[in-house]
Amino acid sequence: QELKLNLEQIEKGGYEHFMLKEIHEQPKAITDTYRGRLLRNEAIIKMAGVEDNMKKFLNANRIIIVACGTSWHAGLVAEYIFEDLARIPVEVEYASEFRYRNPIINENDIVIAISQSGETADTLAAIKLAKSKGAFVFGVCNVVGSSIARETHAGAYTHAGPEIGVASTKAFTTQITVLTLMALRLARAKGTISSSEFRQHLLELEMIPKKVEKALEADAHIREISDLYKDSRNCLYLGRGYNFPVALEGALKLKEISYIHAEGYPAAEMKHGPIALIDENMPIIVIATKKGHYEKVVSNIQEIKSRKGKIIGIVTEGDEQVRALADHVIEVPETLESLSPLLTTIPLQLLSYHIAVLLGKNVDQPRNLAKSVTVE
Ligand code: G6P
Repeated sequence: QELKLNLEQIEKGGYEHFMLKEIHEQPKAITDTYRGRLLRNEAIIKMAGVEDNMKKFLNANRIIIVACGTSWHAGLVAEYIFEDLARIPVEVEYASEFRYRNPIINENDIVIAISQSGETADTLAAIKLAKSKGAFVFGVCNVVGSSIARETHAGAYTHAGPEIGVASTKAFTTQITVLTLMALRLARAKGTISSSEFRQHLLELEMIPKKVEKALEADAHIREISDLYKDSRNCLYLGRGYNFPVALEGALKLKEISYIHAEGYPAAEMKHGPIALIDENMPIIVIATKKGHYEKVVSNIQEIKSRKGKIIGIVTEGDEQVRALADHVIEVPETLESLSPLLTTIPLQLLSYHIAVLLGKNVDQPRNLAKSVTVE
């Protein structure tokens, strides 16, 4: 028993929980994911699974992304990036809904299945269905040799390393990294991005790990904020554009490990319902980074403030406008809008982690949840 405990401590590498370790591993995990693929000096992206099937990607009518949970949120981020950069229409589906609704799929459709474990039953079943209708299926998995990795026609691994914490963290950011690389590669091949824009993306992507490290420095500050809000019964997460899926993921993280009811919303939808919930007891986390509908988000923040909601703003370093309005701000470094989810996700992971720890919850193994869901 003692030996087992010691082994686990070694595996946690000095961190109190696997989740915290995995949050802090993200700079390395993201680097491992683009290593050998992003060749900045040559200004190319090399991904065998994409290269070998380039014709199919270039002729695709649309891409359908299927996934569950956090991987589905990575799919939503990918929808923005594929459409924005590569101009390929994208639909993102919960694997469990896709497979049961008699979807229209044909040979010119590409299905991308995203799965950390590569074992999720619904995602696996969706892949089999898509294959039976003639679609080309591409897998984005973390676990090498997993069922989904084997069942797909081609794929690209996220090189996040083993993820033990049930709440997914580094798998999410490395999924976004792989999907960003794919979108950039296809954008270049299709000519929907200029060579200078492409180079700028490569440069910025290479700087992300350092910037994630910077974002992680807010840890102690986030713990203080967590202490103030840990007893909240509800929590709202808002974001727009590329950061709307990040709001969904932030809310999921809080639900999963602290059992606080949380919802993510596109900021502009607030007025169609959630605004009715806002009072002085409601903490609202608003992703309000400089690039991407900043002024619109600021006006959403004003609406929240006039209803006395408590505002925690996720802002770009040096921001003053949101700081003047919000109860708290957490800064992340500046980057391209398309890459911002890789940074804005970090404080949301830490917020849910600290709240769960302060509440004394089992962070690595939350009740009722499994790391890999192999039943339908
Ligand atoms: C479970 C896990 C989640 C994960 C989801 C999809 O619900 O608890 O963290 O996002 O399954 O898993 P996958 O392995 O397919 O990404």
